[in-house]
Amino acid sequence: MCGIVGYLGDGNVYDILIKGLHRLEYRGYDSAGVALVDGNGEISVFKTKGKVSNLEAFCADKDIDARVGIAHTRWATHGEPSDSNAHPHFSGDGNIAIVHNGTIENYKLLKDALIQHGCEFHSETDTEVLAQLIEYIRVTNNCSLLAAVREALNQVVGAYAIAVVEKNDPDTIIAARQSSPLVIGIGNGEYFLASDATPFVEYTNECVYLKDGEIAEIRRGQPLKITTLDNQEAEIDITKLEMSISQLEKGGYPHFMLKEIFEQPDTLRDCIRGRVVENGTRIILNGVNDNKEKFLNAKRIIIVACGTSWHAGLLGRYLIQDMCRIPVEVEYASEFRYSKPIIYKDDVVIAISQSGETADTLAAIQIAKEAGAFVFGISNVVGSSIPRETYSGCYIHVGPEIGVASTKAFTGQVMVLTLLALSIAQLRNTMSQDKIAEVGNHILRIPDYVEKVLKLNDKIERLSLIFTYARNFLYLGRGYSYPVALEGALKLKEISYIHAEGYPAAEMKHGPIALIDQEMPTVIIAPQDHLYEKIVSNVQQVKARGGNILAIVNEGDTVISNIADHVLEVPVMPECLTPIITSVPLQLLSYYIAINKGKDVDMPRNLAKSVTVE
Ligand code: AGP
Ligand code: GLU
Repeated sequence: MCGIVGYLGDGNVYDILIKGLHRLEYRGYDSAGVALVDGNGEISVFKTKGKVSNLEAFCADKDIDARVGIAHTRWATHGEPSDSNAHPHFSGDGNIAIVHNGTIENYKLLKDALIQHGCEFHSETDTEVLAQLIEYIRVTNNCSLLAAVREALNQVVGAYAIAVVEKNDPDTIIAARQSSPLVIGIGNGEYFLASDATPFVEYTNECVYLKDGEIAEIRRGQPLKITTLDNQEAEIDITKLEMSISQLEKGGYPHFMLKEIFEQPDTLRDCIRGRVVENGTRIILNGVNDNKEKFLNAKRIIIVACGTSWHAGLLGRYLIQDMCRIPVEVEYASEFRYSKPIIYKDDVVIAISQSGETADTLAAIQIAKEAGAFVFGISNVVGSSIPRETYSGCYIHVGPEIGVASTKAFTGQVMVLTLLALSIAQLRNTMSQDKIAEVGNHILRIPDYVEKVLKLNDKIERLSLIFTYARNFLYLGRGYSYPVALEGALKLKEISYIHAEGYPAAEMKHGPIALIDQEMPTVIIAPQDHLYEKIVSNVQQVKARGGNILAIVNEGDTVISNIADHVLEVPVMPECLTPIITSVPLQLLSYYIAINKGKDVDMPRNLAKSVTVE
């Protein structure tokens, strides 16, 4: 959670920081602040509750001239969102200012000790404890800021990415990471610092991803220096960024979410490119080909993920079990890590994460690695922690996803899981060549099918008006459509704040059927698959109780179309590919309902894009 930006150079510090905060705002947005260091070493901190635009209004009449600066957009973990809890935080004597992403688990112990030493606290945050601790060590040991930061971090238990500036040494930023991301952009005579590379993509394409336990010393006019917590010099790996500025803008759409929904034909093309070859008859996934033995010998696959990525994981189970006949378990990473999991050396553990930074998923990976399993990552963000922590993997290549509600990343994840299942099936000979070719051929056409589905946009916008004032929704599906129902419900909850439950359609009669009445819309995902006849009965059960049904069906459907109150038709697909097609209208439905309700779809309340805390 939270976004950190830092800048040291001759550019306009304030403008660079604010623009960077806007780009990182998806990571957290309950308060924002900047610390600006001027030529005399004075540090001015301006911070305020609310979004970055509030901070800009707050700074409108302030002196924002600076040579160096750090900035933060917060997702509160310790203390409510408020002006005083907003970052940056000063040390007691105002000598240092710090921004922090993460949580300090032993903050209470450290705080009590500092209070004993006479420190006074002005916020409820764990971050201020770190600021005071660093300064206390600096003064007591009469050491440099770098040495004090190192010593303080050695006393800290928890997760952090931090940036620190100091009055006495105004041309320096000290930054460090443990479990929360931090990347340093190296420009011409200037340095950038950020939670991801988006704040500096237009200034430089050279960057260094800080590793866990590393501390960077960024000094004007000097090369970057990185050391470890035990004061060893660390290697500096420079990465070339492949991101363009246009990917970070709305491109004429009113919201990132709508842009990202409409980008899906292109993002799916990018995701498939080079992986489905020879007219769809062969699937190439390097992550699988380079580790054939692991996939050939796997007795079981365990998928770990959170939220939308977990829904993609559930689809992964259907796909892999169907195509490869390997048992698959799908676990919430947050539960898995504390469930004393039984993991065997010949298990393959697949971690799925759009951001590549989700703390629970990273912890699950750690456990799987310790147990000796082969760990494979599926992520979107190149260079993020999950691809680095896993032995092999696959990027989904859908470009930066800014809207907090995941859309194009979900379809990208499902596509990669489909390709993964097909390539394992190819390897283990569990599918006929004809069947692989049939699916492969349709995969090549999926981007066009999605384009067609997007033509439903206007109809969905009109339909959304009917549903906007519902207070509860039920989403039902069976087989491959069950995870789609879960994802449809999550999307609606996240951005419209309407309660929605996703359920396996047949399971509804064991409880949720009691909720059905005229007031509660039921969204039924019912493409023509081997469970179609079964779901027809479920649709009838809802109708018999006066339910109001919106059905997603295939073109040419006559049965459910006649029972449902409203119908959205999508193209016919092989069963295993239907989720990508049926989830798109549900994304649009959630989007328009949230817009009708006047909600902030790109930055829904209480959420953050990248959940780097437990
Ligand atoms: C998606 O709309 C959500 N905001 C959320 O459930 C998300 O999928 C989850 O936090 C996992 O994130 P990750 O894919 O980056 O690991
Ligand atoms: N734990 C810190 C706080 O609550 C940082 C949270 C964040 O990552 O934004 O202020």
